[in-house]
Amino acid sequence: MSIVSSLSPRALSAPESGIVEIMNYARGREGILPLWAGEGDLPSPAFINQAASQALIAGETFYTWQRGIPELRQALSRYYARHFAVDLSPEHFYVTGSGMQAIALSVQALTAPGDEMIFLTPAWPNIISAIDIGGGRAVGVPLSFTGGKWVLDIDHLEKAITPRTKAMFINTPSNPTGWTATRQDLTAILALARKHDLWILADEIYALYYYGTGARAASFLDVKEEGDKVIFVNSFSKNWSMTGWRVGWIVAPPETGQVFENLIQYSTSGVAQFMQKGAVAALDGGDDFVRENIARAKRSRDILCDALIATNRVETLKPEGALYAFLKIDGITDSRQAALDIVDKTGVGLAPGTAFGVGGSEFLRACFLRDPGQIEDAAQRLCDYVLKL
Ligand SMILES: Cc1ncc(COP(=O)(O)O)c(C=O)c1O
Repeated sequence: MSIVSSLSPRALSAPESGIVEIMNYARGREGILPLWAGEGDLPSPAFINQAASQALIAGETFYTWQRGIPELRQALSRYYARHFAVDLSPEHFYVTGSGMQAIALSVQALTAPGDEMIFLTPAWPNIISAIDIGGGRAVGVPLSFTGGKWVLDIDHLEKAITPRTKAMFINTPSNPTGWTATRQDLTAILALARKHDLWILADEIYALYYYGTGARAASFLDVKEEGDKVIFVNSFSKNWSMTGWRVGWIVAPPETGQVFENLIQYSTSGVAQFMQKGAVAALDGGDDFVRENIARAKRSRDILCDALIATNRVETLKPEGALYAFLKIDGITDSRQAALDIVDKTGVGLAPGTAFGVGGSEFLRACFLRDPGQIEDAAQRLCDYVLKL
């Protein structure tokens, strides 16, 4: 028996990320326009970096609170009051080493081996693997795609519920589809959760990247009531251009506090204090930066989508939320092969839809959180490619 095959079946079953495969294929090539990953081109703002550096230089390098430093949990409470008009005491917040870790810990908190967690597909692949590696079983419910628009059928969602279902993972606005739940969708999902006594694991990390009317996408915070079983995962990555920091948070009922503290203790034992000081600066002083980031994303979304839609070879609507155009291009059925070909021929890096599970295989995902000039260049190269197919 090889040493690899003697590793745990659960670890061995985790797939290689189909996004990373394309990144590795083209890494280091000249002139690549990298729209493959879910991040922008701006570094974290100086005021955030300074707050973290000052704390680091001042010697804030010791073990710290598992749940997060009190200042950060208070700043999160203020952030939710400003953006979501809710009064959540600091006891609702748990600081994690990324949104990814917030998902992994929440899955651990919710699922026992064999428990099912429903998710909407196509989906960000890390969600699926986090559930499977965590010992649960990820059950995909396909969104339907008609006329370039993604729609959730609540009856399909209810039909997927079995006696083993423990939770529904709802990512809105969605990576990769841009599907953005309406308040009615959220009310209907919440009603299912109440009826079947399920948890909702809500991933609303793109809530402020919303291009419809209003300042943000609808949130479960708008419809939930005291006692509803909802856990939120979130991240500093996208709003404040902090993808490399690996800092996120969980919002959960205070009664679950000791459980989350323990899960953090036995994974990372907490996030570095000096980074948490940077996160406090982001929350308290970053609203203008976030607003500019979103305006930039909207401009770039329009440039990319308008150009591709005008070719009449791409089926998509402009996404209502998140950072991605999810493109169905005439003549492309194998998106992995197409992503490799597009990198070779155009120098534009896209993520293949094969990476996003059921319903995604014919699509390609482009992240548009980038300088509008660069996006114009990418759009031109992609249109030339599409028109030659
Ligand atoms: C839907 C969704 N949730 C969570 C995350 C996690 O972000 P991070 O681990 O960078 O905090 C991402 C990142 O792309 C995402 O798209």
